[in-house]
Amino acid sequence: MRILVTGGAGYIGGHTVVELLRAGHDVVVVDNFVNAKRSAVTRIQELGGRPLDEFAVDVLDEDGLNTAFESGPVDAVIHFAALKAVGESVAQPLRYYENNVAGTMRLLQVMDAHDVRRMVFSSSATVYGASDDAPFTEDAPLGAINPYGVTKVQIEQILRDLAAADDRWHCASLRYFNPVGADPSGRIGEDPHDVPNNLVPFIAQVAVGRRDRLTIFGDDYPTPDGTCVRDYIHVVDLARGHLAALDRLDEYPGAHAWNLGTGHGSSVLEVLASFERAVGNPIPHVVGPRRAGDAPVSYADVSKAERDLGWKAEKSLDEMCADHWHWQEQNPQGYPDD
Ligand code: UFG
Repeated sequence: MRILVTGGAGYIGGHTVVELLRAGHDVVVVDNFVNAKRSAVTRIQELGGRPLDEFAVDVLDEDGLNTAFESGPVDAVIHFAALKAVGESVAQPLRYYENNVAGTMRLLQVMDAHDVRRMVFSSSATVYGASDDAPFTEDAPLGAINPYGVTKVQIEQILRDLAAADDRWHCASLRYFNPVGADPSGRIGEDPHDVPNNLVPFIAQVAVGRRDRLTIFGDDYPTPDGTCVRDYIHVVDLARGHLAALDRLDEYPGAHAWNLGTGHGSSVLEVLASFERAVGNPIPHVVGPRRAGDAPVSYADVSKAERDLGWKAEKSLDEMCADHWHWQEQNPQGYPDD
């Protein structure tokens, strides 16, 4: 197939493009490079073993999208491109709704105009809100608690409405839990621009000497060791989940959601210990106050993806941390500048 991937130069998008190329698909990357570097695309092609078509285009840019869709036949779209910082979304809601929601609508319109009606969408476990009813099944109530999360809920709704109105659409919303790790080569990985919001990138920057210490956001939660529990999933397993969804999409007309996680929760202290094993040294840390909006426990019920898509995460937390560290150690400052 020839797959158009928005956000294909980013962290999850890039790993997915590598797996697509390795599986023999042709790929068109559409990325505005707001949160990704050009050098990532060079490395993605190296790892994938084949060239791809690249368009430096924003999903809000209808003319730019038309150019990408007219570069050759497109069988399906995987749509990663989005802003994703929770705190920033609270401060700049219009920017988030414009980029994420209006950007997706523009993309869907251009897809429709080009008779491309198969989409795999980057959703998030954030759609389960602050609920503490883990494990989450896909029919759990939706209700995000910040504008970033609301954009994911709204886009899923748009896909349901679209597929209900026109049965030619096949849409898969993949709800990611907590992606970490990197391709085992260490050539591509997560490269946050500012202070990392997420746990593992922050730990990695402490380990490599870019930051002094990790602050653990609360150790008085009702969990076995008092720190929050999340479902960390290796980004390569996650990437392969997209290929599984693409392979089976023809069997699922309409709009559907699948959780992509391991089905297993790990605490902040367990992740820290695993990362320390990868590095071989202790990682400085202190315990601070809770972070607003954190649910104590979140992990996936993964039985639907296993049953419907024939996909299951395989890699352990230690492999996630070892691969994440390999990337960070080889690229202490992230990707080289373009
Ligand atoms: N944490 C720390 N210190 C840090 C960063 C995080 O202790 O410096 C803790 C958090 O409090 C939380 C855990 O590590 O308990 C994981 O935090 P992340 O920010 O890595 O992940 P979240 O589960 O909070 O966030 C993820 C995604 C979001 C998404 C959210 C809900 O990154 O995009 O899940 O699905 F909105």
